[in-house]
Order: sequence, then C-alpha cells, then structure tokens
Amino acid sequence: MARILITSAIPYINGIKHLGNLVGSQLPADLYARYNRARGHEVLFLCATDEHGTPAELAAAKAGKPVDAYCAEMHAVQAEIARGFRLSFDHFGRSSSARNHVLTQHFAGALDRAGLIAEVMEKQVYSIDDARFLPDRYITGTCPNCGYASARGDQCENCTKQLDPTDLINPRSAISGSTNLEVRETKHLFLRQRSLRDRLEAWIDSKTDWPILTTSIAKKWLNDGDGLQDRGITRDLHWGVPVRKGTEDWPGMEGKVFYVWFDAPIEYIACTAEWADANGLPDAAWERWWRTDKGAADVRYVQFMGKDNVPFHTLSFPATIMGSGEPWKLVDYIKSFNYLNYDGGQFSTSQGRGVFMDQALSILPADYWRWWLLSHAPENSDSEFTWENFQTATNKDLADVLGNFVSRVTKFAASKFGNTLPAGGTNGDREEKLIADITAGLRAYEGLMAAMEVRKAAAELRALWVLGNEYLQSAAPWSVVKTDPDQAMAIIRLAMNLIRVFAVTSAPFIPDASAAMMKSLDCDDWTWPDDLGLAMETLPAGHGFSVPENLFRKITDEERADWQTRFSGIRS
Ligand code: MF3
Ligand code: ZN
Repeated sequence: MARILITSAIPYINGIKHLGNLVGSQLPADLYARYNRARGHEVLFLCATDEHGTPAELAAAKAGKPVDAYCAEMHAVQAEIARGFRLSFDHFGRSSSARNHVLTQHFAGALDRAGLIAEVMEKQVYSIDDARFLPDRYITGTCPNCGYASARGDQCENCTKQLDPTDLINPRSAISGSTNLEVRETKHLFLRQRSLRDRLEAWIDSKTDWPILTTSIAKKWLNDGDGLQDRGITRDLHWGVPVRKGTEDWPGMEGKVFYVWFDAPIEYIACTAEWADANGLPDAAWERWWRTDKGAADVRYVQFMGKDNVPFHTLSFPATIMGSGEPWKLVDYIKSFNYLNYDGGQFSTSQGRGVFMDQALSILPADYWRWWLLSHAPENSDSEFTWENFQTATNKDLADVLGNFVSRVTKFAASKFGNTLPAGGTNGDREEKLIADITAGLRAYEGLMAAMEVRKAAAELRALWVLGNEYLQSAAPWSVVKTDPDQAMAIIRLAMNLIRVFAVTSAPFIPDASAAMMKSLDCDDWTWPDDLGLAMETLPAGHGFSVPENLFRKITDEERADWQTRFSGIRS
C-alpha cells in the first residue's frame, strides 16, 4: 500500500469554470484519486479556490460586494458544483485561509534568510482617482505602434506588440477610465530564482518518466533567454496575503501583499493543514504528507494541471520549496493537459463561449460528462468538443454497450429465474475464455490507470464492456434456456457477477452508474477483482437482485440540436 498525495490546479475564484478547465485538472485528478483508493492505497486528494489577485477584486467590485464576501460566496458555489460532478476531494480549501497566510509568510521569511529575496525599487503607474497602483494590463491607451485605441499596458491586442504602460498614448485606468495617472516609485520583493537554475535543471532532468508535454514546457522556460528571470513576488493591492517576514513586519512593505502566483501553490500545503483542521487532526497529520523529516519521504506526490500552469509548477513553486532550505516535499509527477476546444473555436471564460460546469449539470447527469471528457482528454494534442461527437459517443458507449449489457442481463434473469441468482450449471469453455480475456484486459487497464494514460484507460475499460456484450450475444441464454436451463443459469450467474466487476472497475469514471449497478445487485462489496475467477463467484446462487432503472438514456437529435443552439452564443 502506497501513500499518494494528489492535487489539482486550484481554480480561480471568479466565475464558474468551463468543461475545458474541468478536463484539464480536476476531473483527471479525481479519476486518479478514485482509482488509487479503489486499489487500497492511502490517498489524500486536495483542491481549493485561488482567491487573490486583481481579477478577483474586480469581479467582486462588479458584483457590488466586498471581496471577502464575494470569495466566500463563490467558494460555496464552486464547492457545490464540484459535488455535482462527484469530484471526491478530501478537502476543498481556500487560498485566502489563515493557514495559507501563515505558510506564505513563512516561506517568504525562509527565502529571505536563505538570501534569495531582493528588494527592488520600481516605477509603476498609480491612479489617483482609483487610489491604487494599476497592474499593467489594467492601463489602456492608444498603441504607439498601430494606433489601436484600446491597447493594454502589457500588450496591444491588435498588433500583438509587447508594451510598457508608459508607451501608451493617452493612458487611462481600465478600472475607472480616469486619466488622472502618475508614475510612482514603489518597493517590491523579487525571488532570486535565477540562482536556483542549475538545481532546478538537475531536478527536472532527473524526472525521466514525466510526460513530454510537462518537461518540454519546463525546459523551454529554463533555457529560453529570459526564461528564468528573478520574479516579483509582491503587489500593491489590498486583497491578498500581507507581506511579512515569517511572523515579523517587513520594513518598507507595509500595505502590500504577495503576488497571487506566489501564494497559490503554497495553498496545496495550506489546504492539507485546512483538511487536518476540518477533521480535528493535529499538525502531525498534515505534516506527514509534506515534511520529509516527518514521514513524507515515502509519499508519492502527483499534480494535475493544464499546460499553461506548467511553468509555475515545474519552476516557480519548486524554487520556493528548494530555496526555503527546509525539508518540504517536492512533486514526484506532473500530469499536464493540452486544451479542449469547443465546436470549432475555443472555450472562453471572458466571452462566455462553450459549456460551463453548472450548465452541463443542468442538462445531463455528471457521468455522461465525466465519460465523454475523460475518454477524450486532450493528452497528446488539443481535442475538440462537438455536440455530434458527444451524442454519438455517449449513446454508443454508455447506452448501447454498458447500459445494454446490464439491462439485458438483469431483465432476462428476473423474467426467467425471479429476483435471485439461479443455482444450476457450471462454467464451460466459453466462460473460461471470457474470464481469460477480461483478465488480460483488466491488467492492461490497471497499467494504463497507474500511468495516468486517461484516454487509453477509457478505451480499455470500454473494451471490457464490449467483451461482456459479445459474450452475452454468443452465449445467448435466451435460446439456451429452452434446451438446457442449467447452462442458462450458469451464464446468468457469471453475467451478474460481471456486472459487479464492471461497477467496481468503472467507478473511477462513472461513479453514479457504478453505485446504481451495485444497488441493483444488492451488494456493497467493492473489492477490486485481482483474481477475476474468484471475483466471478462473489455473488452466490440465491443472492437477491433487482432490475435497475435504465442506467443511461440516449441523447436525441432534437436535444443535440437544441443544446447546440443554446450554447453557441454568449453566456449572459
Ligand atoms: N488558478 C490558476 C489557474 O486556474 C491555477 C493555480 S494552481 C496553483 O490557472 F498552483 F497555483 F495553485
Ligand atoms: Zn498595436
């Protein structure tokens, strides 16, 4: 039995996430957590909301709410939707927690003691009417290069030229429109991660088993000219973790906060402490997951994220951990994902394009989405959601293959033998072959799940369901029963036990359908089928069962067309 720590990239607090976000981190992380729990490992699976930064402040202002109240509300909304998708977090924390404040300040203090913090005077645009410094992207003006009137202070969207806010002609605040701006001096802390470059490179080079997507992005940032620049870890904002050196004030940094990308990954640790607090456990309970001097050396830590997050997890956060000089656990494996596109374009939060998590649950139960998204996970390249593909794949895999198997077996059994498993007959060659074939498929499935090959694992699972259907078709108990009822009974006992095996093995993908299968079998034995021959005898003759409601319904052409129009436009 291993100890596995699993984290999903923590979603920004502002707004509800779309299906592209879901399949890029939280959902595959859940798949992996559920699988490893099912195999008897000790799993701690964590996620949280990423609550700091200017976007959160502005979203709160737009909603007319104080930022802390807004975050508390949105956290509850996101937690509820996560439950709807059956994301089995052991804890869903908040980067604004007291635990994260303390830990973030602690790391800053440790980095400073290690000589890795530089204090730098910078010039930044201050908006007098907004009474705040403006981040570059919140200053707009005319592009000096192309004349576009709404260029952002970091980049012109029209001609893509990288800009400095002071390059803009007629600059104004993107928040209030005020032109009453001035350049002020302000002090910031920089993490001198350049001095950790060689250690980071050696560490990444030692990770020979990481996905190419992860290492290629990491190497690119490490090697591109200015890839590993020292980076500012503080901001002139009100909302965030106040800058302190451990528990002490940081002279000259009063009123400033840490940059959201500094405190967000530290929330992985803080979230573990929040989990312990929520369960009334002592500090030792979370430290054994994170402190290599307190038991975490034998933890396997796996992170899930979209590719845009990779630089922060391969370089910045490891720089924080290594630089601290303290025995914190580094990540062991980073599973990253490409993007999921939507119907010929991109999912877009700012434009409200695509299907958002709440909308998805309002039209179909979680399992339909989980199955499609995971079986089409954007692993080797970007992938695309289309309503046609969604309809075809779910109707076929879920309704025609798995659902049909369960329904045919249970209905036939109930009609011929009543609601208990019949006693007659024994396995013949056909049954032995099925057991051998499913055993082989199962071992392949286990290998793919352990390797986080999400798409291939889904295909292998589907192949198991197909084997069950093919067996049923060729064994044809509905014909056999007329001439050899005993043999029909043996077929049904086997098929019923196979339903249990499907419930157990499919649960990481489609937990609700698995629970429904188990319920109809009047069974709560989730033992993994290490020995399939034995597993096929779990439910004995005389065991009661009931015919379940249809596990999956088909998506009709009308529904597909309706949803396609409904979600083509802009989310209001
Ligand atoms: N909120 C970020 C995003 O959605 C992810 C933060 S992950 C963490 O892209 F490591 F910083 F926590
Ligand atoms: Zn321009």
